[in-house]
Amino acid sequence: MTSLMLAIDQGTTSSRAILFDKTGNIVSLAQEEFPQHFPEGGWVEHHPDDIWGSTLRTIKQAITNSGKTVHSIAGIGITNQRETTLVWDKNTGEPVYNAIVWQDRRTGDYCRSLKSQGHDEKIQSKTGLLIDPYFSATKLRWILENVDGARERAERGELLFGTVDTYLIWKLTGGREHRTDATNASRTCLFNIHEQCWDRDLLELFGIPASMLPEVMDSSDEFGRTDAQLLGASLMIAGVAGDQQAALIGQTCFEPGMVKSTYGTGCFMIMNTGERAEVSNNKLLTTVGYRLDGKVTYAMEGSIFIAGATVQWLRDGLKLFSNASETEHLARETNDGHGVYLVPAFTGLGAPHWDPQARGAIFGLTRNTGIAELVAAGLQSVCYQTRDLQECMNRDVTASTAALRVDGGMVSNNWVMQFLADILDVQVDRPTVLETTALGVSYLAGLKLGWYESLSDITSLWHKERSFYPQFSDDKRQSLYAGWLDAVSRVKSDNQ
Ligand code: G3P
Repeated sequence: MTSLMLAIDQGTTSSRAILFDKTGNIVSLAQEEFPQHFPEGGWVEHHPDDIWGSTLRTIKQAITNSGKTVHSIAGIGITNQRETTLVWDKNTGEPVYNAIVWQDRRTGDYCRSLKSQGHDEKIQSKTGLLIDPYFSATKLRWILENVDGARERAERGELLFGTVDTYLIWKLTGGREHRTDATNASRTCLFNIHEQCWDRDLLELFGIPASMLPEVMDSSDEFGRTDAQLLGASLMIAGVAGDQQAALIGQTCFEPGMVKSTYGTGCFMIMNTGERAEVSNNKLLTTVGYRLDGKVTYAMEGSIFIAGATVQWLRDGLKLFSNASETEHLARETNDGHGVYLVPAFTGLGAPHWDPQARGAIFGLTRNTGIAELVAAGLQSVCYQTRDLQECMNRDVTASTAALRVDGGMVSNNWVMQFLADILDVQVDRPTVLETTALGVSYLAGLKLGWYESLSDITSLWHKERSFYPQFSDDKRQSLYAGWLDAVSRVKSDNQ
């Protein structure tokens, strides 16, 4: 009898494998961090062997930890860091270059030239995205232009492109399937989100041979079966979604207007907009929320590049504490008027600024500033950035959010959650299961494999652990936020 679903969550700093039961409870979990490579300023790479090796090891470890065998597993869901770009040889499986990570800014100049040639509107209207190094297309182009022989090999049909989901599907199926899902495709800047196909004009613009591209499937679909040699059984990969869309599903935000915000390495706030691909006038992205039975549910997304990574930097870079769990206690030592603002633009600014050249800064230091204030400012920066996104979203859809569902590592910090509710002036709901990303693809796989009949079966599985309610006066909220806006304006690259 199969009673477990295996969710693989291949993230930016670690790979995780989680076994869920049918009610969405975690049965076992394994996690492995892997090395980050920064070959030049603004460049971020992962070694493909680390992505694959850590994934496979965590799958095996999660099965061992559960005390069950592989035969208890009904199927697999895969969720992943999005946009990260891999190219490998179709016949040997050898990657031609490291994975270029979503945070990587090496194509900044090329993006600037695309903008100056006036390609913004075409790109936004077809893909819902903006011109930025964040998305896969310019990274893929960089590999074809800069790796010896890559373009010729690609044109001969010898090379394959994939985001991390595609690479894992390819590895897990022993090189048999070259597939992705519509949510991951929608982050490449090569996919027409209205027509749901790779866009010929964009392939031409970026110089990408169509033969490199994976087949685009529904998010809940038959992606292929794992090679029996790998895990001791051939399991169906039945659900795939980019991690932020997977979290939308794990948070059961299935109604238009529902919003979730995930605090991982970055922070990604996504609103379900239903059948309508709403176009943002405020530099948010239009993206595929999920695609089921060929029907697309669209979403509006605000993407912040650095959230949890700020805490990591305070811990590993500045060595202000040794464990992230200490930050709540430290922040509680400060008062609201400490006046310190930390702008974590380590890899530029994402939404709504889209400024790859901006760099981080700390403002408002006095002789009173100590570790606690720096930590509080770091934590608060994540909330202020969420407020930036909220402002844009409210302007775009003219409906304010009733409640924000949150997940990801940082949300276990009660001080941060309270400040978030205060600065947004919105109720913040934290669910019982915080692994919503992995849970989302467990649900997607469960839909395909008959565990759930419909999305409403899944909706009833969401449970709230705690709500945080706004307490600040309007004056206090506005004056703290005004300080943040001032700090951000000072790090932007056009602020000369
Ligand atoms: O778009 C990038 C995003 O998918 C990365 O997510 O959780 O690894 O920060 P995370």
